[in-house]
Amino acid sequence: MKENYTVCNCMKVSYGDIEDALHKHSSFSDVLEAFNSVQMITHCSTGCGGCHQKVLDIISELMMAPSAE
Ligand code: FES
Repeated sequence: MKENYTVCNCMKVSYGDIEDALHKHSSFSDVLEAFNSVQMITHCSTGCGGCHQKVLDIISELMMAPSAE
């Protein structure tokens, strides 16, 4: 099941964008490391910062349950 909605309104980053960015690197040991990388690729959470926790939650969710394409 593919969810897609805008997670970061400032930078117009969707759930799918975060998922794609995360999939470019499959060997993260922790969520913060993954977050930094996703942020570098998508620029999510570089505006108001209000989506920070949402982005972290999504990353941890995706890392826990890798979706089968
Ligand atoms: S909603 Fe993501 S930085 Fe503002």
